[in-house]
Amino acid sequence: MRIDRLLSNLGYGSRKEVERLLRQNKVSLDGALINKGELHVNLTPELRERILVESEPLDPLPGLTILLHKPTGFTCSHKEEGDLVYDLFPDRWQKREPPLSTVGRLDKDTSGLLLLSDNGALVHKITSPKNHVPKRYRATLARPLNGKEAEIFASGKLMLEGEEKPLLPAILKLISPTEAEVTISEGRYHQVRRMFAAVGNHVLTLHREQIGGLKLPNTLSAGEYLAISEAEVQSIFATAQP
Ligand code: URA
Repeated sequence: MRIDRLLSNLGYGSRKEVERLLRQNKVSLDGALINKGELHVNLTPELRERILVESEPLDPLPGLTILLHKPTGFTCSHKEEGDLVYDLFPDRWQKREPPLSTVGRLDKDTSGLLLLSDNGALVHKITSPKNHVPKRYRATLARPLNGKEAEIFASGKLMLEGEEKPLLPAILKLISPTEAEVTISEGRYHQVRRMFAAVGNHVLTLHREQIGGLKLPNTLSAGEYLAISEAEVQSIFATAQP
C-alpha cells in the first residue's frame, strides 16, 4: 500500500495533510525520512515499529481488534449525546478507514469487556445469533434471588415483555443471595436486565466478564484497553456451542 494512503486510512489526515507531514520531514522508515507519498509498504506486523510519525510509533495497522474495559456512563454509539466509548481512544482513531466499531453493544450503565474491531466479518461472526457465542455477566440485584431463576432461565421458554420468541436457554450461577453470574448466547436489547425483570427482580449493576473463551483481564482498569492478537480473537470461538 502507498504510505500516503496508509497514513490517511489511519486517520493522520487527508491525503493533502499527509503530503504536508511528509514534506515537513515528520515521517521516517527505518530511521530514514520519507518524503514521497507513493512509496509502497507491506502491511506486516513489524511495520509499526519501523515507521515513526512525529517521533511516535505508527498507530495499529488495519486488522485491529481492541479489548476495552468499558466504564459505566459511556454509550456504544458514534453519534449520541454525552460520553461515547469512542472518546476513550485517540481522536485520530475516529477517522480510521476501515472504521473501528463496537462488537455488539453494552448499555450505558453496564461495565466490562467490550470488543471493537475494524473487521466487519469478525464483528458479524461474534454477534450473529447463529454462532451462539456465550457471554458471561455478573449482576447485582435489588432483591434476593428466590432459587427458581436458574431453572426458568435454563428452560428455553422465558419470554421477554413485548417479544414473541422465547429466549434460548441461559445459565445462572448463584454467587450470593443478591449476586449472580449469567451466561447468555443471544444479544437481545437489554437482555440480562429484562430477564431479571421477567422474574420480578431488578438489576442494580451489570458487568460483562467474558465473551466466548476471552476473559476481561483483571489487570485492565475501567477505561483501559489493549489490542488483541489473532490467537486471542480465535479464543472467542473456542467455547461456542454448535
Ligand atoms: N444485557 C443487558 O441488559 N445489558 C447489557 O449491556 C448487556 C446485556
